[in-house]
Amino acid sequence: MKAFVLTVGVFFSVALYANPSIKPQEQAVASAHPAATQAGIDVLNQGGNAFDAAVAVSAALAVVEPFGSGIGGGGFWLLHRESDGFQVMVDGREVAPLKADRDMYLDKQGEPIKNASVNGALAAGIPGLPAALDHLAKKYGKLPLSDSLKPAIELAEKGFLVNEHYRRLAKFRQIALASNPSAEAIFLSKGQVPDLGAVIQQEDLAETLKQLSKQGFDGFYAGEVADKLVQGVQQAGGIWTKEDLKKYRVKERSPVVIDYKDMKVVSAALPSSGGLVLSIALNILEQYDLESLDEATRIHVVVEAMRRAYRDRALYMGDSDFVSVPTARLTHKSYAHTISKNLSLDTATSSQDISGLKDIEGNNTTHFSVMDKAGNRVAATLSINYPFGSGFVPAGTGVLLNDEMDDFSIKPGTPNVYGLVGGQANAIEAGKRMLSSMSPTFIETKEYIGVLGTPGGSRIISMVLLGILDAEQGHTPESWVNLPRYHHQYLPDVIQHEPGTFKDGMRVKLKEKGHQLKSVGRQYGNMHAILWDKKSNTLMAASDRRGSGLAIVETVGINE
Ligand code: GLY
Repeated sequence: MKAFVLTVGVFFSVALYANPSIKPQEQAVASAHPAATQAGIDVLNQGGNAFDAAVAVSAALAVVEPFGSGIGGGGFWLLHRESDGFQVMVDGREVAPLKADRDMYLDKQGEPIKNASVNGALAAGIPGLPAALDHLAKKYGKLPLSDSLKPAIELAEKGFLVNEHYRRLAKFRQIALASNPSAEAIFLSKGQVPDLGAVIQQEDLAETLKQLSKQGFDGFYAGEVADKLVQGVQQAGGIWTKEDLKKYRVKERSPVVIDYKDMKVVSAALPSSGGLVLSIALNILEQYDLESLDEATRIHVVVEAMRRAYRDRALYMGDSDFVSVPTARLTHKSYAHTISKNLSLDTATSSQDISGLKDIEGNNTTHFSVMDKAGNRVAATLSINYPFGSGFVPAGTGVLLNDEMDDFSIKPGTPNVYGLVGGQANAIEAGKRMLSSMSPTFIETKEYIGVLGTPGGSRIISMVLLGILDAEQGHTPESWVNLPRYHHQYLPDVIQHEPGTFKDGMRVKLKEKGHQLKSVGRQYGNMHAILWDKKSNTLMAASDRRGSGLAIVETVGINE
């Protein structure tokens, strides 16, 4: 029995599903930090909608999770407006500076210069997050930016407490942070990782957020803040110009919509590979009755679907404003049929035997999910790429810049920091968006609506896939976010997994099928999800136990 399945007839389910007057009597926010979740709830309680809450949560995360996302970075916000069913992906992805070129991270011998696309000012793309917040507030919100940015400004001024997660990531990025005086002053303590419970205050960031809240786009992309950003980047060897900032534009994209069995899955469009990779994998999996397979064979089939979908990511995907991506073909059911003809239930396919090239991409990042009492919803995944991004803060701005340039294919076939490889479609070009794996996603059936996503670099998409399959089995968000995880990304040709995902017997069975297994040594991902059960008209929300996030569901009264 599915845990939240409707026990009433199909006719009633359809009516419920189609009835726009049914609204949750509750609101929910799930994010990676309690202060960010609270910021979203506060803004909802001030009369804001889910889109205002998304602005508040994004900005708060930028302050309290500086290693994961920030106004020096970008992201994707998947929106659903309940009144008319309108859905869109707001693309606030960073772009390559206008002076960028394909070989900018290669030496004279054509070899990648170590860490050039990862550390320091040259590694930073032009941020999209501030423009996206302005866009969300003006086009979809009910509140001015000055209201929805207020919690973040207060958090920046008052400070937040260093936790173990912060310390671990600051240690990991200590050298990069220590090599830039502004970053060092904010995020380290005399060059060392701050103590547990130390307070991180960010006065400059508060001031920059105030400019954004007063002036919108121009508060960041023009005037004094822009001058300081460009000056700081150029002094440190970067290539940004004022023109880059002035020309930055948010894009609205039609989400990728996938019909999978009885579900509609709505996910991120290019320049995220998430929706397309999910589409290819789900179209393969749809050909199987997964529940009828023994567990080892089911895992094997899911892995084979991941392998093929990630192969296509490496082979075909890039910013569709710059390169032609065969989207219609890749998402067609017949394509899935063709590429799974050689999928044996008994034996692993070798990645070498399915033509293509190598690899995939990127990590740190953060995700949150929001639903308001009207049923409006947002799934948002935001990033500055590597933990603490480039480790570089232009003086006087408080803005920690991303190192998203590493998500481009620096050299075809050369793995990036996450072991991902790519091809020409994702080569660097001025003004181009780098390919992403961020996959904010909705799951829609007659009985329920799900909102989910996670950080985790190349593994984001496989985590979301496992969450979708878990939802299909009738499980709740608490289960989706806490599932043991495994992943296959075509190359390297191994099943990566968390310690303990597979018991000994399962390991033997998968190896007998020809799979190599590799524990990644630690848990990964930090999923935050919401479910609207339409039968009971209740919300459920869950935050991944691997992180220190918080999910809040609040009753806010009867339908309005
Ligand atoms: N930088 C992580 C991603 O965009 O996938």
